[in-house]
Amino acid sequence: MSSPIDFDRYDRIRPIRWTGDALELLDQRKLPFVVEYRNCANSDEVAAAIHDLTVRGAPAIGIAAAWGVALAARGVEASDGAEAAHKLAPAMDRLNAARPTAVNLAWALARMRRTLGEAGPDWRKVIEREARAIETEDLAANREMGSLGAALMETGSGVLTHCNTGSLATAGFGTALGVIRAGVAEGRIARVFAGETRPWLQGARLTVWELQQDGIDATLIADSAASHLMKTGQVQWVVVGADRICANGDVANKIGTYQLAIAARHHGVKFMVVAPSSTVDMATPSGDSIEIEERDPGELFGVGGTRTVAEGILAWNPVFDVTPHALIDAVVTEKGVVERPDTDSMCAMFVD
Ligand code: MRU
Repeated sequence: MSSPIDFDRYDRIRPIRWTGDALELLDQRKLPFVVEYRNCANSDEVAAAIHDLTVRGAPAIGIAAAWGVALAARGVEASDGAEAAHKLAPAMDRLNAARPTAVNLAWALARMRRTLGEAGPDWRKVIEREARAIETEDLAANREMGSLGAALMETGSGVLTHCNTGSLATAGFGTALGVIRAGVAEGRIARVFAGETRPWLQGARLTVWELQQDGIDATLIADSAASHLMKTGQVQWVVVGADRICANGDVANKIGTYQLAIAARHHGVKFMVVAPSSTVDMATPSGDSIEIEERDPGELFGVGGTRTVAEGILAWNPVFDVTPHALIDAVVTEKGVVERPDTDSMCAMFVD
């Protein structure tokens, strides 16, 4: 049934472009109607772009931060990598502080710091090589996960996804959206539904647009239609990405993921989390220890820049939640699939 996936057909968007002098970021605040890259000439501009969601999605912000280190290096004189790492520490701290929940940001910066610390006089080249490696490895991981995740599905399955986990959120191909691309290409997935993902509308503005570029039909639903959709029997899997996967298998992801997992279990729909191993954080024992980012409550006061809520209303805007591992059927990474994740199965896969 399965034929090799035509990656060029199913993966055309690139959110991050390194020019050699600057980082160009596809401005995700303006999609889908304006397709425009924002130029970042220094690491603080990259940190600002991560914070204001010009670039977003756990793997993509890690990759952008790695290139941000290469930009910060432009202003530093050092005779070896250890000295450069010392001088670059403040810029790296500012990049790290741009967003708190997705571990890929801290992971990429720690990897850059470690590699830099071991570098000699050619440390500038080493930095660029490492940033490129982080990006290339992410793309390869996504392609691998696409096949692994799709293989879990029966032919003719319907899937529901949340947020945007595609090429826009990664080096390319995507995590959960990579599984969906692979599943469609292999003929396993017959129906794709995407939740709007209030309040920032990653599903409505990004995911359905991204799939449209590939010629994959996706049906948009209001987030509040998810349980009803499951009840109709049109979806057999919920497939989502992750911002951090803990040692016990708990998963932090876009707000609304947790309620999808509860509804999925109630309706006998399977729940799959797809993320590269750079999203796995074995140093965080459970979801209780994760800092959940809260953003401007103003995001809840309107749609598309038009105010819809009366003045003087209070709002609370946590942008991630934690899905307990007991609600997850499979965690798919490029290293393999962990079914029914818990501390033992996570350690077996991720502790050497
Ligand atoms: O706030 P965002 O848009 O950066 O949140 C993104 C998500 O929650 C994604 O599901 C997650 O980062 C995985 S992206 C491959």
